Amino acid sequence: MDPDLANAPPHSVRRSQVEMTEHVLPEFTNSLGNIFGGQIMSWIDICAAIAAQRHCRSVVVTRSIDAVEFINPIKAGHIVVLRGQVNATFTTSMECGVAVWSESPLTGELRKAVKAYATFVALDEYGRPKAVPPLVLGSDEDRRRAEAAKARRDARLAARAREG
Ligand SMILES: CC(C)(COP(=O)(O)OP(=O)(O)OC[C@H]1O[C@@H](n2cnc3c(N)ncnc32)[C@H](O)[C@@H]1OP(=O)(O)O)[C@@H](O)C(=O)NCCC(=O)NCCS
Repeated sequence: MDPDLANAPPHSVRRSQVEMTEHVLPEFTNSLGNIFGGQIMSWIDICAAIAAQRHCRSVVVTRSIDAVEFINPIKAGHIVVLRGQVNATFTTSMECGVAVWSESPLTGELRKAVKAYATFVALDEYGRPKAVPPLVLGSDEDRRRAEAAKARRDARLAARAREG
């Protein structure tokens, strides 16, 4: 972990932050020379899971991934930068946000390519959901993200109640 992150206050948003860097190898691409959505989804899941684990220091499982938006394609040979953090904590679950950027290896130009939200549940040693520590919101930006995450959670749980 970046020592700067390790020194951030316990359970702060900063402490959960993750930056992952990947490279778009030919086997990750489709016939258009763009990365497969499923490959990005896999990296998003990993990035968000690390953020969740940095927050709660427990085993976590993915409960849902939603609002995945593919904004721009990512080309073969480009560098992929994923940034994730915990947006909000509830009782046993946490919402993590991940933003994915495409970086040109030649010019350094960065383009936002994908964003997504993933909810993880912390598990105890018997595989049962367990409470997570509350997220410490230190800035207006943290509070704005947490409010938005709470609204998304309400929508998810309402959809679950409606659809079963
Ligand atoms: C995670 C799991 C153990 C939870 O089991 P459960 O006892 O049924 O508990 P619930 O799913 O009802 O609730 C657990 C949490 O998920 C939340 N949740 C439920 N449905 C959700 C949804 N669609 N999206 C986001 N969060 C949801 C609940 O609100 C609760 O969070 P809270 O305690 O903070 O309020 C179980 O759903 C499971 O094993 N799922 C499969 C996980 C998996 O295999 N993931 C892929 C590989 S990691």
